[in-house]
Amino acid sequence: MRDFRIAPSLLSADFACLGQEVRDVIAAGADIIHFDVMDNHYVPNLTVGPLVCEAIRPHTQAPIDVHLMVKPVDSLVPMFAKAGADIITFHPEASEHIDRTLGLIKESGCKAGLVFNPATPLSYLDHVMDKIDMVLIMSVNPGFGGQSFIPHALEKVRAARQRIDEYTAKHGGEIWLEVDGGVKVDNIAAVAAAGADTFVAGSAIYGQPDYQAVIAAMRAELAKAA
Ligand code: DX5
Ligand code: ZN
Repeated sequence: MRDFRIAPSLLSADFACLGQEVRDVIAAGADIIHFDVMDNHYVPNLTVGPLVCEAIRPHTQAPIDVHLMVKPVDSLVPMFAKAGADIITFHPEASEHIDRTLGLIKESGCKAGLVFNPATPLSYLDHVMDKIDMVLIMSVNPGFGGQSFIPHALEKVRAARQRIDEYTAKHGGEIWLEVDGGVKVDNIAAVAAAGADTFVAGSAIYGQPDYQAVIAAMRAELAKAA
């Protein structure tokens, strides 16, 4: 059976008390902190950089999953690694040299991944699977929290699952399959059934007063899917 990981996105947290928000979701049963970096260039919104990653780092031992929605990518990689990131993912369209950027992330000691927008083909994975620790399928267009899940993403999750299983059966290792955007209690089972193992949820968790209740409800749905 696959391990399931829940990754609350800080995008919907209270930015006036981020350290507390990090501690609270982990205490409520979350596994990973999803950290959305937007640059008002690759995506039409602006969020946080390495300084804020460094500030939240002492508040948890959970992995920090840095989702870079920035262009260019490379100069930020060592900065986020130094700021305590565990996983760094980026959008292939935002890098001129995808293999080089993946190598840079690995050299900096982090796990590396590619992120696929709804219209981005999975063929970007063709020649770099050996450098990939995570595939992130976007189920919304990146830039904002609180958008609706695009149902077509499920097909892509299934296709990504197949690629990962084929690759790891042959070469070993572990590649996580994460889904980001519009994931809620009422659709998380379908996302898991399509093959995902790591679930980003921003508004679904931080938009509710009781984080523990939402995360428990998500885990109950995941148990059904398994
Ligand atoms: C969108 C971000 C997501 C977003 C998810 O660009 O990458 O991580 O915060 O938020 P919800 O779960 O509200 O769709
Ligand atoms: Zn994200």
